[in-house]
Amino acid sequence: MNKWIDLEERHGSGAYGGWPITLVRGEGSRIWDTDGNKYLDFATGIGVASIGHGNPSLQQAVSDQAGLLMAAHNGYYSNDIRAQFLEKLISIAPEGLERVFLCNSGTEAVEGAIKLARAHTGRTQIVAAMRSFHGRTLGSLSATWNKTLREPFEPLVPGFTHVPFGNKEVLAEAINEETAAIILEPVQGEGGVYPAPKGYLHEARRLCDEQGAMLILDEVQSGGGRTGKWFACEHDDVLPDVLTVAKGLGGGLPIGAVIMRGHVGFEKKQHGSTFGGNPLSCRAGLAVIQFIEENDLLGRVVDLGAFFLHSLAELAEEKPDTIREARGLGLMLALQLKHSVGPILAKLRDSGVLALTAGRTNIRFLPPFTVTSDEVEQVINTVRDVL
Ligand SMILES: Cc1ncc(COP(=O)(O)O)c(C=O)c1O
Repeated sequence: MNKWIDLEERHGSGAYGGWPITLVRGEGSRIWDTDGNKYLDFATGIGVASIGHGNPSLQQAVSDQAGLLMAAHNGYYSNDIRAQFLEKLISIAPEGLERVFLCNSGTEAVEGAIKLARAHTGRTQIVAAMRSFHGRTLGSLSATWNKTLREPFEPLVPGFTHVPFGNKEVLAEAINEETAAIILEPVQGEGGVYPAPKGYLHEARRLCDEQGAMLILDEVQSGGGRTGKWFACEHDDVLPDVLTVAKGLGGGLPIGAVIMRGHVGFEKKQHGSTFGGNPLSCRAGLAVIQFIEENDLLGRVVDLGAFFLHSLAELAEEKPDTIREARGLGLMLALQLKHSVGPILAKLRDSGVLALTAGRTNIRFLPPFTVTSDEVEQVINTVRDVL
């Protein structure tokens, strides 16, 4: 154990721990530890370093803004950078989404969406999906499915029910005139990287319209370009009332956003956040979106995502005794094994590849959008060797 791990073990809250390595530097898809070992980073801080580590454009933007202004609270002042970021976010959001509440994380975005749905409809009930993950604060945790995460903190926020993801009939039975919102991930991330089956999001939209409820799509993980479109709901052409996004949006700086339809919004002082919309994060968000646009990274995500998924599927055919299937959309991919992935992830790391879990049996890959086909091939070869 090195001294950094020792210090973190000693002074951390206990919520995290058991770290194998200490990461100190990154460049593009590569990341280094304190011993100088180099890794291909297909975890990117759980989908955060979307345009690669140490991206010079992002670095310049953040450094410029740090010297100009970092604090200008939304509740008291306007700010030029925040205004430009809001305009930019709306320009990439599906048409019909016109307003944004800025915050600092995924869970905070989901909290905002839940509050918005309750305030807007005057109703309390929320329908969520089994296998969902929406965050760990009490509201978003109430929408999260995993009982192990929920039970120590009960009683949670009342009014949440969970239905099997992808089953239209059960969804129809669960929604009624007391439902404030249905909340779904277009691609379930933490639950195992499961894209919504064709037609499911459309049905959720139709049911919400029929019952006067709101459709919240949680794109904290799938949004911001990760699936090859700015938002995964665009693959199905479904417009939510509220869209949540975070993770990759700031390329490393904390940003969350609740993006909503034009006729939806908070009343004055109904919601707020001290750090939400701070000029530094907004400048980072602007730089990330501009970099993705200028370098056609969405196109790259589509092409490399297809290549990566195809290669994973070939691997699955090669090793039917070990691999159940390859799944995902764009550069949000998983290889589901027939056994627990813990030891495999450790071996991958020791072989120079960082990946993630998603549930017990999935290896999840969230590489930066700047990843190259050589790097994808290298990872495929390492996974093959390790398996
Ligand atoms: C779909 C989804 N919603 C919400 C969250 C919570 O985000 P955060 O960890 O930034 O609070 C996550 C995190 O993994 C997520 O994947």
